[in-house]
Amino acid sequence: MVALTEKTKKRLTMQTAEIAVNTTAMRSLDWDRDRFDIEFGLQNGTTYNSFIIRGEKTALVDTSHEKFRQLFFDTLKKEVNPAEIDYLIISHTEPDHSGLVKDMLKLCPDITVVGSKVAIQFLEDLVHHPFKRKIVKNGDRLDLGNGHELEFVIAPNLHWPDTIFTFDHKTQILYTCDAFGLHYCSDNTFDDDLKAIEADFEYYYECLMAPNARSVLSALKRMGELEKIDMIATGHGPLLSHNVEELTGRYRKWSQSQTKAEATVGVFFVSDYGYSERLAQGIANGITKTGVAVEMVDLNAATDLQELRELVSRCAGLVVGMPPVNEDATIQAALGTILGSAKEKQAIGLFETGGGNDEPTYPLLNKFRALGLHISFPVIEIRETPTENKYKLCEEAGTDLAQWVTRDKSIKAMKSLSADLDKALGRISGGLYIITAKKGDVQSAMLASWVSQASFKPLGFSLAVAKDRAIESLMQVGDKFILNVLEEGNYQILMKHFLKRFAPGADRFENVRTQNSVSGAPILADALAYMECEVASRLDAGDHWIVYCTVYAGRVSKPEGMTAVHHRKVGNHY
Ligand code: FEO
Repeated sequence: MVALTEKTKKRLTMQTAEIAVNTTAMRSLDWDRDRFDIEFGLQNGTTYNSFIIRGEKTALVDTSHEKFRQLFFDTLKKEVNPAEIDYLIISHTEPDHSGLVKDMLKLCPDITVVGSKVAIQFLEDLVHHPFKRKIVKNGDRLDLGNGHELEFVIAPNLHWPDTIFTFDHKTQILYTCDAFGLHYCSDNTFDDDLKAIEADFEYYYECLMAPNARSVLSALKRMGELEKIDMIATGHGPLLSHNVEELTGRYRKWSQSQTKAEATVGVFFVSDYGYSERLAQGIANGITKTGVAVEMVDLNAATDLQELRELVSRCAGLVVGMPPVNEDATIQAALGTILGSAKEKQAIGLFETGGGNDEPTYPLLNKFRALGLHISFPVIEIRETPTENKYKLCEEAGTDLAQWVTRDKSIKAMKSLSADLDKALGRISGGLYIITAKKGDVQSAMLASWVSQASFKPLGFSLAVAKDRAIESLMQVGDKFILNVLEEGNYQILMKHFLKRFAPGADRFENVRTQNSVSGAPILADALAYMECEVASRLDAGDHWIVYCTVYAGRVSKPEGMTAVHHRKVGNHY
């Protein structure tokens, strides 16, 4: 019999904790990352948090992922008689929080579901039978008794249009679901160890919240109108208790810097709680990597056509996810508005996820082309469940579009350095290397020259990776990769190959001789030497990440071989 490892034993567990007076957190701990999701970059699992608030009446804030069905209800029944729960507050309807709503309604048919208008509409489609509901708007209150007066804050787009926050005036806890969360699974209920969680906190912000930076700032403004917030009870990861000011401050700083970006791309999609929003998010992620801001708009909720018109006019690029055929008039009107406000020299990209049941892409693409827009990437068509490689393709397509949008600025920056300084910088030289990495089914590679040994104990080196590189997503803390060293006099073929501009999603290793490494990343058979490495930390250096890595294995193929060296003429581009 195979012994269970610690990880498999722990795969799904529950934690309950009294976090304030009359308030219990029920945290569904999902120790493994069991799917490729762009925001699960650091592979530390996740948690789905729900909360019981007991006044004279009882409220449950959110449920859990359906994979926790048995565990969740066993735990809930130990805490409270489900029949005595009066309200089910739905902060957001994505299935990781609302996966057990149907079960809750079966168990407690008299419960009143509380949510935004968009959330209740979605639940109607999900549940298919009548249920008691209370639609709340910003500032609405619900008195549970014993001082637990709940106030609702509308926080649309964090990260779907349905989101509300709930503030309990007695405990001064703000329940925020996805916002301020992180995918991090540990036994710590709270944010005791900021160092341990801050990389995941930032990565989660970049993936989920940065494309909605304006909405983050609006939500922060509304939060400022509440009394002092003592704790932020998030839907994922540890609850924020020790670092509320610090971490909300980081959200503010990051969002302000997003909204000051010199260019914005609008990403328009039709949410179906399936692939569409995931792909839109992948594309948005690829765009923000370049420093270009993104505004994501769910066309289901885009009812203010004047606002939509203004957004489209100020965007340097547009990405449109096709709606399903015969979609309702609101979406058609929104789509018509985008087309009517698009203008020459904007970049455009289209995607469809309906497996052939979406509106056809080419007639719309031709209209954009006729208006003089630049088609930045081939239409992305999803005919079946998207693979990890499809998500990666979306990210790379987003990056390509954003790089086109900022091309003039990049050329200007290149020319702006004084000739003397430019030449002096160019005297910094380095070796020539190819970085190869694999994560899940996705693999990538890049030519690198800014590589330098950085420590003996542990054996480590640093390298600089431009933030808009495709491989950057595969080099998060904890990721493994290969540093392949090119040989002097024998590097031209490999260098030429990896310097090529690859189309989004293209296989970087086609016609390249490789061997497998322990981590799965390809080793280049024609390299002089290779090292197997793990990312230990990353430092933000303007348009690059400085990645510090430790080395745990390596080999030289020709002991007498010398490393290829790259001598440059100028220092303001590669
Ligand atoms: Fe954690 Fe958007 O659901």
